[in-house]
Amino acid sequence: MTEMKSVTEATAVKAPVLPDAQTVLDVKHWTDSLFSFKVSRPASLRFRSGEFVMIGLLGDNGKPLLRAYSIASPSWDEELEFYSIKVQDGPLTSKLQHIKPGDQIILRPKPVGTLVHDALLPGKRLWFFATGTGFAPFASLLREPQTYEDYDEIIITHTCREVAELEYGRQLIENIRQDEMLAELMGEGFADKIRYYPTTTREESPKMGRITELLKDGTVFADLGIEGGIQAETDRAMVCGSLAFNHDIKAILEEFGLREGANSDPKEFVIEKAFVG
Ligand SMILES: Cc1cc2nc3c(=O)[nH]c(=O)nc-3n(C[C@H](O)[C@H](O)[C@H](O)COP(=O)(O)OP(=O)(O)OC[C@H]3O[C@@H](n4cnc5c(N)ncnc54)[C@H](O)[C@@H]3O)c2cc1C
Ligand SMILES: NC(=O)c1ccc[n+]([C@@H]2O[C@H](COP(=O)([O-])OP(=O)(O)OC[C@H]3O[C@@H](n4cnc5c(N)ncnc54)[C@H](OP(=O)(O)O)[C@@H]3O)[C@@H](O)[C@H]2O)c1
Repeated sequence: MTEMKSVTEATAVKAPVLPDAQTVLDVKHWTDSLFSFKVSRPASLRFRSGEFVMIGLLGDNGKPLLRAYSIASPSWDEELEFYSIKVQDGPLTSKLQHIKPGDQIILRPKPVGTLVHDALLPGKRLWFFATGTGFAPFASLLREPQTYEDYDEIIITHTCREVAELEYGRQLIENIRQDEMLAELMGEGFADKIRYYPTTTREESPKMGRITELLKDGTVFADLGIEGGIQAETDRAMVCGSLAFNHDIKAILEEFGLREGANSDPKEFVIEKAFVG
C-alpha cells in the first residue's frame, strides 16, 4: 500500500526551494513578444534606480539559468518590477514568459550598472534614449525623486518597431502624471518636466523613424522646440538599446561634444546594453 504523506511533505517535494527565490506577484502581457511582471523584494536588496540584477529560473539540469535584467521599478518601491522580451527559442524567456502569480523565480541581490545619476555630471536637461525593452531602466528612473530634483527637463525617447510595443512605456508615463502618491513624494507638478517622444519604424504612427535619424536631421529639436540642439554644458543623456543602437547614439552624442561617463568617472552621458546579439 502507498504510504500517506503529510500535505507539507508532499508540497515540499513538488516545489523545491530555489536559491535566492522571490515570489511572482503579478504578470502582464503586452504583446506576443513583451511582458512585464512584479516579484517580491528581498529585504536585503538595496539598489540605485537604473541598475540591473541577474534573474532566472532553474534550468532542466537543475542549475540556475540566469540573465541580466534592468529593475524597472524605482529604488523606493516595496516590489520589484521587470519588463521582458519573449524570445521563443531563448533559453530563459521561452520559460519565463509562462510564469504566474505565486510562482518563484531566482533573483541574485547584487545590483550593478551605469545608468545611474552618480555617473553623470550635474546638468539641466536629461535625455533618456531607449529602444525596445531598453525602456526598463528608465521606467525606474522616471519614478526616482532624484531625477526631478537634479533636472529641469526630462526627455524620454522610445523607438520600437510597432505601436503596441510602445504601450508599456506610454501607460507608465500616463500613470506617473496621474499618481497622487508620487506627486506628494516628488512635489506637485513634477511630471510637467517629462517630455515623451515615442517613435515607430515599421508601423504607421504619429512620429515615424529611428531616433538617430530624427536627431541627425534636427526633427527632434524642431518638434520639442529646442534651440541649438544638444549642448555639453546643459544636456546629459542615458542610453539603453541594442549594440547597434548604442553605437550609433554614442557617435551622435559625441558629435554634440558629450563624453561617456562611468560610476567612477562621471561625465555627460552613459550607456548600457538592453541585450546582447
Ligand atoms: C545589462 C543588461 C540588461 C538587460 N535587461 C533586460 C531587461 O530589462 N529586459 C529584457 O527583456 N532583457 C534584458 N536583457 C537581456 C536579457 O539578459 C536576456 O538576453 C533576455 O532575457 C533573453 O534571454 P534568453 O535566455 O531567452 O535568450 P538569450 O539567449 O539571452 O538571447 C537570445 C537572443 O534574443 C535577442 N534578445 C535577447 N534579449 C532581448 C531583448 N531584451 N530585446 C530584444 N531582443 C533580445 C538577442 O538577439 C539574443 O541574441 C538585458 C541584458 C543586459 C546585458
Ligand atoms: N519586435 C518584433 O516585432 C520582433 C519580431 C520578430 C523578431 N524580433 C527579433 O527580436 C530581436 C530584437 O527586436 P526588437 O524590435 O525588440 O529590437 P531592435 O531590433 O533593437 O529594434 C528596436 C527598435 O530600435 C530601432 N533600431 C535598431 N537599430 C537601431 C540603430 N542602430 N539606430 C537607431 N535605431 C535602431 C529599430 O528600428 P528598425 O525597425 O529600423 O530596425 C526598432 O524600431 C531582433 O533580433 C529581431 O529579429 C523582433
